[in-house]
Amino acid sequence: MKKKELIYQGKAKNLYATDRKNVLLAEYLDQATALNGKRKDQIVGKGTLNNQITCLIFDYLAEQGIKTHLISNYSQTEQLLHKVEIIPLEVVLRNVAAGSFSKKFGLAEGVVLQAPIIEFYYKNDSLDDPFMNEAHIYEFQLATKSQIEYIKSQTYEINQKLQQLFEAKGIQLIDFKLEFGLLADGSLVLADEISPDTCRLWDTQTKEKLDKDNYRKQLGDLVPIYQEVLSRLKK
Ligand code: C5P
Repeated sequence: MKKKELIYQGKAKNLYATDRKNVLLAEYLDQATALNGKRKDQIVGKGTLNNQITCLIFDYLAEQGIKTHLISNYSQTEQLLHKVEIIPLEVVLRNVAAGSFSKKFGLAEGVVLQAPIIEFYYKNDSLDDPFMNEAHIYEFQLATKSQIEYIKSQTYEINQKLQQLFEAKGIQLIDFKLEFGLLADGSLVLADEISPDTCRLWDTQTKEKLDKDNYRKQLGDLVPIYQEVLSRLKK
């Protein structure tokens, strides 16, 4: 396999073409951003950790019957992916109030929701990823009704599988963000990453934050915390 031209530069990952048809290579970067890219820092070791955590979680989900874009872990910081056309939605599922949900509705962090809540955000940096509902999605033709039904049912199912995975490791899954994409044959699959950058993870006992909130709120160094998540997942 040959790595070819850079086709997409993200905040935490770069995507390269390869000499294989419809196969891309994602490189996870040692970079953290907050406030939609307004704060940016180099964090040595973060790329390797998020690549390994994402591969481990995507492999687990695939074993559980969830279709994903991941082909394989390729190197410490790289993974091979089926090329997808990303649906420009950030699909957030919340089990417990935290972050923007707590702020928006004036709820203390840690309030357990009666049932998981799915929210959609429009993936658009220049608009700061606005909150949107299904009517907006159809108005702007970002996805069809059947695609949204599928995305919602997959997201609830992924939540159950992830809760089982993390609970066994002493981690409470507070919330997470997913992205979905269309393969060349038109089928929808889970894409992007699942890591402490895209999930809120709290230690079940101590409620210590094991995720990117440590960077967002400037509480401490991410690397030992992400390392702790990886080593618990590997146990
Ligand atoms: O900030 P907020 O509370 O809306 O985030 C909800 C969840 O989505 C968190 O787990 C956060 O890490 C994730 N998220 C993300 N990428 C964004 C926005 C939120 O991964 N651009």
